[in-house]
Amino acid sequence: MGYNVVVVGATGNVGREMLNILAERLFPVDKIAVLASRKSLGTEVSFGDKTLKTTDLDTFDFTGWDMALFAVGSEATKQYAPLAAKAGCVVIDNSSLYRYDADVPLIVPEVNPEAIHDYAKKNIIANPNCSTAQMVVALKPLHDRARIKRVVVSTYQSVSGAGKEGIDELWDQTKSIYNPTDNKPPRKFTKQIAFNVIPHIDVFMEDGSTKEEWKMVAETKKIIDKSIKVTATCVRVPVFVGHSEAINIEFEDHLDEDEARDILREAPGVMVIDKREDGGYVSPIECVGDFATFISRIRQDSTIDNGLNLWCVSDNLRKGAALNAVQIAELLGREVLKKG
Ligand SMILES: NC(=O)c1ccc[n+]([C@@H]2O[C@H](COP(=O)([O-])OP(=O)(O)OC[C@H]3O[C@@H](n4cnc5c(N)ncnc54)[C@H](OP(=O)(O)O)[C@@H]3O)[C@@H](O)[C@H]2O)c1
Repeated sequence: MGYNVVVVGATGNVGREMLNILAERLFPVDKIAVLASRKSLGTEVSFGDKTLKTTDLDTFDFTGWDMALFAVGSEATKQYAPLAAKAGCVVIDNSSLYRYDADVPLIVPEVNPEAIHDYAKKNIIANPNCSTAQMVVALKPLHDRARIKRVVVSTYQSVSGAGKEGIDELWDQTKSIYNPTDNKPPRKFTKQIAFNVIPHIDVFMEDGSTKEEWKMVAETKKIIDKSIKVTATCVRVPVFVGHSEAINIEFEDHLDEDEARDILREAPGVMVIDKREDGGYVSPIECVGDFATFISRIRQDSTIDNGLNLWCVSDNLRKGAALNAVQIAELLGREVLKKG
């Protein structure tokens, strides 16, 4: 016996990837529904070797469905997730709406699987921001060994993190550069993204940081340990898929770079590729379609007592969103619903 699963936002980047991953990981599905907005009614999406047609979220009845994997923006989530939860269908949400709610667990299964048992307070579980998810997978095993005091992270985030419109804008703008009559001014992004980088993701906060940077701080604390100090600079780069992060970590205890490499080699969800030679590291294009968070360039930071630098790359549509959501669904099934 398997689960009755709803994928909400099935025509989007994350929704499509959730369907791929449910099929790839042979998630025990009895019945599946794929939902999007009314304008996409009947749009075909793939689920393994099947083709499914989307139905309208607005008229869907969640009664009798076990779990709903939501990948729509916060606004639609606010309207529909409580309806699903109230109907007894557990919501696993990719938006930022519930991440900071004390009654909603924020889960990365490799890091804080025990939080799953808090799901029942609202029947909702939150999935973290894409940049946070890959970073905490790398930080947790190191924190367990040497206690992290402070993290300084700079991100290089792909345009797929901004949804379908982000991908289209980079594609169209890149082509238009070679065809000067075909002007494609910025719409989704605040400046030209083709052949450029933009140090601005999400809205500005009062202190001059952006909401994306704030999310990395707040979510790392909620998922791993509230005592960890994080400072972030989040940058959009002209890469279609795959987020990269340069991470500097200060520990309470000494941690040798060789030991850190060994710890990360054993860590769940992590793949270490770290040869000190040309090409002996992972770049975003190589992580696309993979489940792992890749760590390279592990080295001591000699400017502080207990410091390390590393380079962290992952497929933002997978570990940063869809894979993590499916892993939460697996955890929920294994630990709570126990049907499969
Ligand atoms: N992309 C990432 O790396 C990433 C990572 C973590 C979290 N997230 C979050 O995941 C969510 C989805 O992101 P995405 O990148 O997949 O966006 P996307 O490619 O723009 O897709 C959005 C999806 O939401 C649906 N939708 C939007 N408003 C709706 C409404 N009112 N009713 C029904 N369906 C509606 C769209 O359906 P139509 O096609 O019918 O419009 C589409 O299926 C967002 O909350 C995002 O912040 C994304």
